[in-house]
Amino acid sequence: MGSILDQTKESLSHITLIAIEAALLGGEILRQGFGTHFAIKTKEGQHNLVTEYDHKSEKAIIEFIGSNVKGSHFLAEESGTSGGGEILWIIDPLDGTVNFAHQLPIFSVSIAAQKEGKVVAGVVYQPITHELFVAESGKGAFLNGQKIKVSDVSQMEKAILATGFPYNLAKNPFHCIDHFVDILKLGIPIRRLGSAAIDMAYTASGRFEGFFEVELGPWDVAAGKLLIEEAGGKVTHWDGRPFNINSRETVFASNGKIHAAGCKILSRKV
Ligand code: IPD
Ligand code: CA
Ligand code: CA
Repeated sequence: MGSILDQTKESLSHITLIAIEAALLGGEILRQGFGTHFAIKTKEGQHNLVTEYDHKSEKAIIEFIGSNVKGSHFLAEESGTSGGGEILWIIDPLDGTVNFAHQLPIFSVSIAAQKEGKVVAGVVYQPITHELFVAESGKGAFLNGQKIKVSDVSQMEKAILATGFPYNLAKNPFHCIDHFVDILKLGIPIRRLGSAAIDMAYTASGRFEGFFEVELGPWDVAAGKLLIEEAGGKVTHWDGRPFNINSRETVFASNGKIHAAGCKILSRKV
């Protein structure tokens, strides 16, 4: 793990380095728990799960950051808000819990640091592949220390997209299934990995041209948004409005070049 940190740490701020170390720490806890027997509970719907490892990872991350950065407060998926101070840490300690619980190795830790309302650092760590995605405001985006950028594909018909579905699919007001079908009918491949933070990190690194979903929490998207913007891409709502990470409505993240075409399809009235 040390080597990933060494590759990435040059010229990054203290805040970013702490976010990296915290994500590696949480990721290591998840890696050790992956495939073992552990407690699983349901949250709102029968498929919205939380495991004991969501809590273990979150606790370790918050304790680590709290003891290394004075003036930290937290917005974390499982424990909500805590602490107080000028830096807000937005944490998803296990993004892809359903995958984790079903022994599918696609899950991540997502940590963002916000100062004066602006996300200044974002880290997404995928512990099974040991891939560490890091962005710092104004400094770019990196995968295991190498600079990344969004893909150059500019035609929607050549794109590969990623998506996810809310747990309340039957009731959600954004008609995401209709838009999903619209895009498939255009012959555009869509992947559903089960971790929005990974979907966004993969868009930042050019593996996907774009990602769309609805009703995500700030912990799902805060780090991914900075990764994509620092890698040269764009993140908005489906109708092109600037994306608000706290809104829990639609999100479309892309390489920028297919953005207008994507918004046109996604904002179609159904
Ligand atoms: C979920 C994942 C999934 C997305 C869901 C999220 P969780 O987060 O990001 O890809 O489709 O909407 O809630 O519950 O595994 O942290
Ligand atoms: Ca999540
Ligand atoms: Ca989670």
